[in-house]
Amino acid sequence: MSAKPAGQFPALRPRRLRQSAALRGLVRETHLSIAQLVLPLFVRSGKKIRKPIGAMPGVFQLSLDELVREATRAHLLGVPAVLLFGIPDRKDERASGAYARKGIVQQAVRLLKRELPELLVVTDVCLCEYMSHGHCGIVQPGPRGGKILNDPSLELLALAAASHAEAGADIIAPSDMMDGRVRAIRTALDGAGFGDTPIMSYAAKFASAYYGPFREAAESTPQFGDRRSYQMDAANANEALREVALDIQEGADIVMVKPALAYLDIIHRVKTEFGYPTAAYAVSAEYSMVKAAAAQGWIDERAVTLESLLAMRRAGADILITYAAADVAKWLGE
Ligand code: PBG
Ligand code: ZN
Repeated sequence: MSAKPAGQFPALRPRRLRQSAALRGLVRETHLSIAQLVLPLFVRSGKKIRKPIGAMPGVFQLSLDELVREATRAHLLGVPAVLLFGIPDRKDERASGAYARKGIVQQAVRLLKRELPELLVVTDVCLCEYMSHGHCGIVQPGPRGGKILNDPSLELLALAAASHAEAGADIIAPSDMMDGRVRAIRTALDGAGFGDTPIMSYAAKFASAYYGPFREAAESTPQFGDRRSYQMDAANANEALREVALDIQEGADIVMVKPALAYLDIIHRVKTEFGYPTAAYAVSAEYSMVKAAAAQGWIDERAVTLESLLAMRRAGADILITYAAADVAKWLGE
């Protein structure tokens, strides 16, 4: 990766290498492959339910039976992994549904591992979907809504992670951004006999307006305040590297940067600095914007989607988490 200054090269004739598709293929530096894709899915209770998400055409809240159908379709196209989010029937102040043995995600994991044992099941670990107030941690009521209690939240996150592993989850993905959660979860997993279950941490997760459509999908919009006390400031790249370093020290096996396209510099620095398996999460609004413009006939959906994912790969991402994973697999397979 030590490109010499252009001045030191003999006569440059880049176009010599661009004359045919085969020639371009030979010198291509970066590849997109189906093996890199992860498809996020939203699961809820009920039967035969496919509840559309307004701002995310093609994405649904799925009941367990429909979840299996959707996962099967993606898996047949070659998608190797899904990332599960749960929408519980009831929310409370302790996020009980997040770590219930028969919680919606726990049921979904058991079912998917039974029906599609080869499919990797990654579970998002967070409390916001299960909390009545929609925050990612326990809230102590007070002025302007209250404040997040970091350390007590760790216990609940650890319970949730262990219950996912117990249900058969292949990878645990904490997205809450509480300090110390990776260590708390690693300790809980090891203690429960899941020392081999890897952790993919949302290590550099920015407080982002790009999560808007997701909050509709997961019904996790905070009822007061915002997530700035635990998610990162979009202006800070060095801080992102420190967050990633901490998660690695605490035991993360895979680190994630989120959102993706607006944070390619972070992906690049994380990959260069740590050389760890790195995931890029192309979040909900990244998907919505492409869908909206494509619906107007303003852009070529397939070309824009593939170009964006290729940019994430070029920046250094190994793993691509995208709501378009099934379509991408279909396109790449053609
Ligand atoms: C919640 C969570 C969020 C996303 C993944 N997990 C939203 C948030 O932090 O508000 C965003 C995903 C997306 O926008 O696609 N911990
Ligand atoms: Zn959350």
